[in-house]
Order: sequence, then C-alpha cells, then structure tokens
Amino acid sequence: MTIVTGVTARVPAKLNLQLAVGPPRADGYHDLVTVFHAVALFDEVTVEPAERDTVTVTGEGASTVPHDGDNLALRAVAALRKQVRGGHRTAGVRVSIAKRIPVAAGLAGGSADAAAALVAANELWAAGLVPPRLAEIAATIGSDVAFALLGGTAVGRGRGERLTPALAPATRYHWVLAFAEGQLSTPKVYAALDRLRSPGGSRGSGGNDFPSGSGGSRGVAPPGPAQPALDATLMSALRSGDAARLGRALSNDLQPAALSLYPALRKTLAAGLELGALGALVAGSGPTCVFLAASADRALELAVSLSGAGVCRSVARVTGPVPGAAVVSAQG
Ligand code: C5P
Repeated sequence: MTIVTGVTARVPAKLNLQLAVGPPRADGYHDLVTVFHAVALFDEVTVEPAERDTVTVTGEGASTVPHDGDNLALRAVAALRKQVRGGHRTAGVRVSIAKRIPVAAGLAGGSADAAAALVAANELWAAGLVPPRLAEIAATIGSDVAFALLGGTAVGRGRGERLTPALAPATRYHWVLAFAEGQLSTPKVYAALDRLRSPGGSRGSGGNDFPSGSGGSRGVAPPGPAQPALDATLMSALRSGDAARLGRALSNDLQPAALSLYPALRKTLAAGLELGALGALVAGSGPTCVFLAASADRALELAVSLSGAGVCRSVARVTGPVPGAAVVSAQG
C-alpha cells in the first residue's frame, strides 16, 4: 500500500448572480437567497503531515491572509479532525495555499481554501467522509464554504449554506473580473447595508443609477424584504442559457453598500457597460466588479479595454460554471 505524503486540491472562486439579503438576524447574520456560480479562477491547497498545524500562503495577496488560528483552511482541518478517528494519522498538517483568488475581494477566496483543505485532508487521512458530511462541517466554518465544495451553479439559502443545485443547460458563460485596489470587509459591507436600509439611513453615494442591464440592485438601497426571494427572471434566464437575458437579470443587494464604502467602483461598472458588457455587478461584498460578455472574443476585447481604461488594478477572464473543490494530485 502506498503511503500518501501529501494531497493537493483545487478550488474555484464564486460569483453571486443574485444576492438577496434579508434583515439582520438575532445571531448577526442575514438570511439570504443567492445564486452561486463557480468560475475558473482557482486556488490550490496542499495538505501534508507535520508535527503541528501550520499554514503557508503564496501568490495573490498572500501577505494579507491570516497565518494563525484565524485561517479558515486551518480551522477546516481542525473541524475535520474532530470528526475522524485516525490516531496518529490525523496529527498535525502543513497546509500550503497557492492563491490566485484575491483576498477580501468578494470572491470567497478564504472559504474556497477551507473547502479545498477539507477535501485534501479527507483524502490524506483516508477519512472517507461523504460529501454531505463534508458539507455539514463546511457550514460551520463559513457561509460560503459548502458552495465551494459543491461548485457549479446553485441556489443558497439560510446564511448561504443551504444549497440546491440549479438545473440549467450546460451553457458556458464568459466573465471578466475587474480587481480593485484594496479590500472590503464583508461584515462592514453588511453593516453598511443595514445602515442604508434603516429609517433615515445614509443614502450617500450608495445608490445605483446605472441604466437597465447594469445588473446591480435597482434604486437606492430600498428597505430589504422581510424574506428575500429567488428571482424567477434570473432562473428563467439561466434555464434558457441566453447570456443577454442573464446579463439583464444579475442583481446584488450588497452593491449599494459596497459602493457607499468604495465609490470609485461606480466608474468601473459604468466603464464595463459602456464597453459592451451584457451586465455588470459588484461581486458579493466587493470590491471586485464582474462583467458578463457575449462570447470568449467579446470577453477578451472587454478585458483589454478595461485594462486600458485605468478603472481597476487588473483584470481576469474566467468561464463558469466549473465544479467545486476536488483533489488534483496525491504525492506518495
Ligand atoms: O460566514 P462568514 O464567516 O463567511 O461571514 C462573514 C461575515 O459576513 C459575518 O460575520 C457576517 O457579518 C456577514 N454575513 C452575514 N450574513 C450572511 C453571511 C455573512 O451577515 N448570510
């Protein structure tokens, strides 16, 4: 029997094609209805046996990822260990994260790394936990971790951890991501939304005055519905596989809040739409901006033009949907 000395898993970034946010709950979270969509921008996480748990991070934004117990990948490994009777096999691990997903960018990169660490440690320890069990552990680590395991396109409810895969034809969508300078803190963006929605809440620069098809939340941070609802138009667009319809249906309740904290993103969104994007929105809590293009060629043109327009730090072209976290190699 070969002894496995290291396992590498690959995991995608996520977009939210719809992000409908309810009022704050007693536990501080918000009930969501969201349509997650995994895109081909991947982190790689390698897990190897070690005396104690450590994490090293290389690549995009590595210096801003926590290296201690706050690291989501380390927390995921610790949570898995509690569920596995493995004796010495489940002793310490060295977790090495190669990042391409920017940190605190609205793309759930930290959650992705946690999902990859779960999948890799499950393999390293030959723990044999089935996907539903891994998903339960994932949900205790963060709201987006279960989706990073699942991938594809899926409706998320609750905090985002209750998932139903979306039934849609095998359409491949072409996205352009515009990465911003700096980061946005997810809790701060949710708090800004609560302020915008409160009676007399600051309306500041958070509004969205883009033309139809901009994809953002319509109007200026309207009061959230008591219970957020799935957008039937968006789901119908996904079922049709028609990118133009999907572009018009994109929406994000967090967008006005992200714009209130990072007003320059308005210019980025407007530039993408002027350059022919089918839809534009802030990714999750931001500050990455997302544009849908009609084809691979259009995505390339858009990416080149956006780079030249000086409205973002850098751009990436990605396709979606793609599968969730998966082992890509085992060393031994
Ligand atoms: O679950 P996760 O740790 O990824 O969430 C980060 C923060 O985002 C939470 O602490 C909370 O402030 C906010 N959040 C929320 N409602 C959700 C998901 C996240 O308020 N459904």
